[in-house]
Amino acid sequence: MAKIRTRYVCQKCGSSSSRWFGRCTGCEAWNSCVEETEPVSSPNGASPTLTGDSPRPITEIDGNPEERVTTGIAELDRTLGGGIVPGGAVLVGGDPGIGKSTLLLQGVGQLALAGLKVLYVSAEESAAQVKMRSHRVGALSENLFLVSESNLHQICSHIHQVNPVAVVIDSAQTIFHPDLTSAPGSVSQVRECAARLVNLAKTSGTTLFLVGHVTKEGTVAGPKVLEHLVDTVLYLEGDRHGLYRILRAAKNRFGSTNEIGVFHMGENGMVEVANPSQAFLSERSSETKGNVAVCSIEGTRPILAEIQALVTQTSFGYPQRVATGFDGRRMAILIAVLEKRCGLNLGSQDVFINVAGGLRTGEPSVDLGAALAMVSSFRDRPISGGTLAIGEVGLGGEIRPVAQAGRRVMEAHKLGFNRCLLAKPNLVDLNVPSQMDVVGVANIEVAQDVALNGG
Ligand code: TYD
Ligand code: MG
Repeated sequence: MAKIRTRYVCQKCGSSSSRWFGRCTGCEAWNSCVEETEPVSSPNGASPTLTGDSPRPITEIDGNPEERVTTGIAELDRTLGGGIVPGGAVLVGGDPGIGKSTLLLQGVGQLALAGLKVLYVSAEESAAQVKMRSHRVGALSENLFLVSESNLHQICSHIHQVNPVAVVIDSAQTIFHPDLTSAPGSVSQVRECAARLVNLAKTSGTTLFLVGHVTKEGTVAGPKVLEHLVDTVLYLEGDRHGLYRILRAAKNRFGSTNEIGVFHMGENGMVEVANPSQAFLSERSSETKGNVAVCSIEGTRPILAEIQALVTQTSFGYPQRVATGFDGRRMAILIAVLEKRCGLNLGSQDVFINVAGGLRTGEPSVDLGAALAMVSSFRDRPISGGTLAIGEVGLGGEIRPVAQAGRRVMEAHKLGFNRCLLAKPNLVDLNVPSQMDVVGVANIEVAQDVALNGG
């Protein structure tokens, strides 16, 4: 195989050089140099194409939307948009040790047990280590092929040889292209290797799972570099020491984004959590001050969670604001609204907000719950455990309606809640069981009265 030519390109202005540079001569930016492969052009100047096909009417092109293979792990399938798509490339990102390798081994293990040929390429662990893990997670099957390899050429030839339905590459940061001089894990290596593998997946119809570590330092090229190359980006999140792991689709060409799958790490690998609302609320004790249940729609599912707030007198000059699983800027806005509209003097108080169970939510509908949790903690008065709060809080303190209010209330009803605070406009055409006491609130002052005093 001909050696590919590389050049060094400034990522800021695009000027290139045949040698590495610390400071770009074009735009004078520091550390913007990345090694890239020279684009291969054919003799007549045309750039290479994926398949070399000529244009055809769309109706004549193969590709059936139903053509999906389910892994048998329902939470994974849902997050993928209903199973794996032949030729699709899926990036699974997450912190080291969160359970990416385990989940993917289980996923392809299930495919193998269903009689489909799959390949697991581990560039991090030896084959024996992976085998030990497959023992544990029950993924032993003669259809599961295993190889410990980090050279891209070798990996590609293994894929050709085995011709699997799905291949897992663990991980993108540890494989390397032998023609590139930069170290495995560098931007150019990660991008080049991923591009080749994605291309191979597309042409061979194999589904590619690429593992990518998210690193805080940013020295090692992580999933961010790869996001635009692949069809689907899944992130496995959660507190490494916590109980739950949440698989979230950040990009999906084949399904809905922001769909989530909930797992917990057990003795024998990742276990699906069939009813996440119940799980997130399980440790809840009714009538604790500062706790409010909320309902956020994650993808297609309403999920109930508990927001906890703690408001205490600050002991230093500068009050602390700490939010876990909740957007810090939203919290600052809610604090300002509470100060202005409800007269809470939070300037001398530390405020902490936490979404119990490790869920991270960015939905505006949880605003009301977060605001009421702060009020409850500040006033040191509990809100009844059977109460759920749904609504977006505007800057004027008004409670705004949210989408799919009916589904949220139904989910709360299923889990035994009996009172729900909603934005007034959401009451129009709301169809909910009569046992559910639905209270429409116009603004945050009214909401606080209703929540603390029962109306
Ligand atoms: P792993 O899949 O290796 O993480 P990643 O590939 O994202 O780096 O998961 C590692 C953690 O999972 C490790 O701390 C051990 C734990 N674990 C279990 O608790 N139970 C199990 O059955 C397995 C296989 C792993
Ligand atoms: Mg791993």
